[in-house]
Amino acid sequence: MSDIIQVYGRGAPVRGQIGPYPFGEAIGVVWRNIVGPSRNNPANVQFIPKSITLNDIEPELTLGVGGDVMMMFGRKLQFGDCIKDFFAPCDAILLNMEGVITDHPKKGPDQKHDPQIIDSLTTLFDPKRTYLSLANNHSGDFGMDECYRSQRMFEQAGFHSFGLRQTPYIDIHPALRVVTGTQWSNHPCHDLAWLDESPEQYRRHDAFNLLFPHWAYEMECYPRQTSVAQMQQWLRQFDGVIGHHAHVPQPITSYQTQDQRQQLAAYSLGDLCFGLGFKNRPILKHYPYGIVARLQIGRLRSNPALWSVGRCDWSFTESDSSADRLIFSTKLASSVDYFKFT
Ligand SMILES: [Fe+2]
Repeated sequence: MSDIIQVYGRGAPVRGQIGPYPFGEAIGVVWRNIVGPSRNNPANVQFIPKSITLNDIEPELTLGVGGDVMMMFGRKLQFGDCIKDFFAPCDAILLNMEGVITDHPKKGPDQKHDPQIIDSLTTLFDPKRTYLSLANNHSGDFGMDECYRSQRMFEQAGFHSFGLRQTPYIDIHPALRVVTGTQWSNHPCHDLAWLDESPEQYRRHDAFNLLFPHWAYEMECYPRQTSVAQMQQWLRQFDGVIGHHAHVPQPITSYQTQDQRQQLAAYSLGDLCFGLGFKNRPILKHYPYGIVARLQIGRLRSNPALWSVGRCDWSFTESDSSADRLIFSTKLASSVDYFKFT
């Protein structure tokens, strides 16, 4: 059980709660949307190089990961060849699917997808090897019946999904278990995998265990000290951690363990797509950016009892809108202005 992370939105809202956040945090999100994402880096967390071998392993699979799949507001979503090529060598990819496909009217920040999102994601990578985590703050936006209905649509198209209460983890490969969970829900929702419910109980002894948390704070380019402490705690329980929800990229980094392994820790993958992320509009201009990564996973050659990431390649992404604003195209990006790193 985590003694650091506090979840919001599982039950009825607490006094002062706005959306998924306590009052002060909600004000902070609004403020950072207006003035731009915070660039404070209190724990001095740095990115690892874009191509690096973290550990000497015997590779068993290559996993691709990408940022939040946000709603497109009726606009078409395309993926550039560069991002398709980036994922092409992967055995599987893992994404955070925010919101649901529904005909119900949306209110406020509800994330409502059109069925076309299935077609768009199908062009990115083979659906039969694409895994969607539903443990996030928007799966409950339209009630669980709509969430389950949307989940069936994805699964009928071949996608795999997990992250609801009955499916807190998934085995992507005999050598890889992914455990997921959320810190937030915009609407009261018991039927998600929640991060304070001991995700470590789902680890498997004979595989790489990856935690894929939906957590922390929007519009912040670096983690807070509390998030770094939570990350350290999770890294004592899992072989790697890849997080999401901040809507901007945060560092993908590594930490050395006592047994000299380098453990992968990505704080936020940002947005893979968002149909309001217009680069030249106030507020909305902060939403087009994300991270994709490609990870080799296997047993440590020097100690096959231990699982690790070997080679890691990653890139920033950006989602550009067409001149008529009807089409977004997500592609690799060499840099993002928030970071000096290129
Ligand atoms: Fe989120």
